[in-house]
Amino acid sequence: MSSPDTDIVWHSHSVDMAARAGLKQQQPTVLWFTGLSGSGKSTLAGALEQRLLQLSCHTYLLDGDNVRHGLCRDLRFSTADRAENLRRVGEVAKLMLDAGLIVLCAFISPQRRERDSIRAGLAAGQFIEVHVATDLAECERRDPKGLYRKARAGEIRDFTGISAPYEPPLQPEVVIDTASGSIDDQVMQMLNYLQACGVVKVAAGQ
Ligand code: ADX
Repeated sequence: MSSPDTDIVWHSHSVDMAARAGLKQQQPTVLWFTGLSGSGKSTLAGALEQRLLQLSCHTYLLDGDNVRHGLCRDLRFSTADRAENLRRVGEVAKLMLDAGLIVLCAFISPQRRERDSIRAGLAAGQFIEVHVATDLAECERRDPKGLYRKARAGEIRDFTGISAPYEPPLQPEVVIDTASGSIDDQVMQMLNYLQACGVVKVAAGQ
């Protein structure tokens, strides 16, 4: 465990992740949804969380737009601010993982380096990267918040996909294109993956 200061020493408490996760009977995991604005990250993460709740999983959804109303309200969209946004979210997700939760994170997270650094801070298998790969043309056609229109008009600077870069994951665990198939199909695709790697158990009829 790295420390910011040699005078600050990590304290190992007796109640740990394994104890908390054991009580919840689940495998704490971070599900990291990355993709363009309007790609469907929040919708998919929300629908999956609803399904996980039905399966008695203990979850929390960290959503980019919502986190920027509180914890990250001081940050904008420069490369440095986005990196700080994701650093904070990564730390919060890590605490929630330690609390024994399945944490769903929906952030554009355009830089590979930031996503990889969050992955590197967790144990193998604890970070599942989901590329919501809906292409720019479809995201712009949807434009649910009118932001693409504003970005094209030059009213928003550093807009991902228009005037700021997006680096797709090289080896995501799951790829989902929300332009094809229904949301139920996409949730099912996620659940099948989570079942295959032992994160959730779905009994017959559930
Ligand atoms: S991230 O790049 O730092 O990961 P985050 O997911 O927190 O972004 O926030 C993205 C949301 O902020 C978008 O869904 C969109 O609604 C809004 N937004 C406002 N300005 C921008 C911008 N310049 N680029 C991208 N998203 C923006």
